[in-house]
Amino acid sequence: MRSVVTGGAGFIGGHLTEHLLERGDDVVVLDDLSTGSLRTIAPLLRPGGRVRFVRGSVLDPVAVHEAIDGADRVFHLAAAVGVRLILERPPESLRTNIHGTENVLDATREAGATLVLASTSEIYGKNTADRLEEGADRILGSPLTERWTYAAAKGIDEAFAHAYFRDFGLRVAIVRPFNTVGPRQTGRYGMVVPRLVAQALRGEPLTVHGDGGQTRCFCDVRDLVPALERLSREPRAYGLAVNMGGATEISIGDLARRIVDVLRSPSPIVHVPYDEAYPRGYEDMRRRVPDNGLAARLVGFRPATGIDQIIERVARSLGWRDTCVDGSERDAAPGAHGASGASVAPAVPAASRES
Ligand SMILES: NC(=O)c1ccc[n+]([C@@H]2O[C@H](COP(=O)([O-])OP(=O)(O)OC[C@H]3O[C@@H](n4cnc5c(N)ncnc54)[C@H](O)[C@@H]3O)[C@@H](O)[C@H]2O)c1
Repeated sequence: MRSVVTGGAGFIGGHLTEHLLERGDDVVVLDDLSTGSLRTIAPLLRPGGRVRFVRGSVLDPVAVHEAIDGADRVFHLAAAVGVRLILERPPESLRTNIHGTENVLDATREAGATLVLASTSEIYGKNTADRLEEGADRILGSPLTERWTYAAAKGIDEAFAHAYFRDFGLRVAIVRPFNTVGPRQTGRYGMVVPRLVAQALRGEPLTVHGDGGQTRCFCDVRDLVPALERLSREPRAYGLAVNMGGATEISIGDLARRIVDVLRSPSPIVHVPYDEAYPRGYEDMRRRVPDNGLAARLVGFRPATGIDQIIERVARSLGWRDTCVDGSERDAAPGAHGASGASVAPAVPAASRES
């Protein structure tokens, strides 16, 4: 099978590339390295190997067509990711997330390939329903508030993809990940788990935004990635959007306490008001709980990694070592989950943009 992963040098894309390689695929990675790093996939790039890296932007239609030409399936993960990055660079992010996707849709259609398109749970906005089903209403603030443009752009991507499915018969499945975490994720753009874990490992205060009562359902990337692969082969998923999130809801305050406990860190936990952590007008989501029923039915998605294991795996990827009572190392070293023993990019540089 010939697969293309746009954004394959990023966090999820790197893990997916590893997984596809393990399954025997030839993989083309298209990435402009704006937030990703070649270190993510460097161990996979052997001379004469089955992974080819193309440095290029999804905004460049020629690069996109060349990368996708002859592919059986495409995973479109390239994006300006997360609300913080969008707040910093609104026009560029909007262009990447809308026009980039349009280019990928066109090239995939021309190649006659199937497509898995990464959307996001952010598209539900302020809907705090107990379990968000895929048909749930989107409750968004004004499009003039930059905070909402990530969700707005991903919503347009979904609408585009669905139009290509309906009018051109494109075999496209949309996935809406909810807070995916794991080794090699950077905390630079506001991703909370690597940011707090890195603070705990440095013995610095863990900075929890707001009162810490906001909740999330964290999903380990190793639970997500095989389900993404299966989604691309599941005809019942074409034309649909599918939630994939963690099974357990946890508040950010409790997450910080778990991190301190699991890592036996001396760090205190401090609360930082949102208007100190983010530009003015930022609004956090109070709650984000997925209904994973559709993903379970279509591709057997059942997230199994608990929050303590997620914390340990992220900490290990940042250099933390811990031993069991019997002296053996607990869990796997970074990269041991994949085929490669991939080396790990430093997750949070000292001069992080995080407060
Ligand atoms: N991580 C999560 O919790 C999460 C949650 C919901 C949705 N998603 C979606 O999953 C996808 C992957 O997210 P991630 O967490 O791995 O983020 P990431 O930032 O690690 O990966 C994105 C990759 O896209 C690349 N990229 C950015 N702009 C590009 C361009 N114009 N051309 C080519 N490459 C470009 C970056 O260099 C990076 O390698 C994104 O589409 C994101 O919106 C992620």
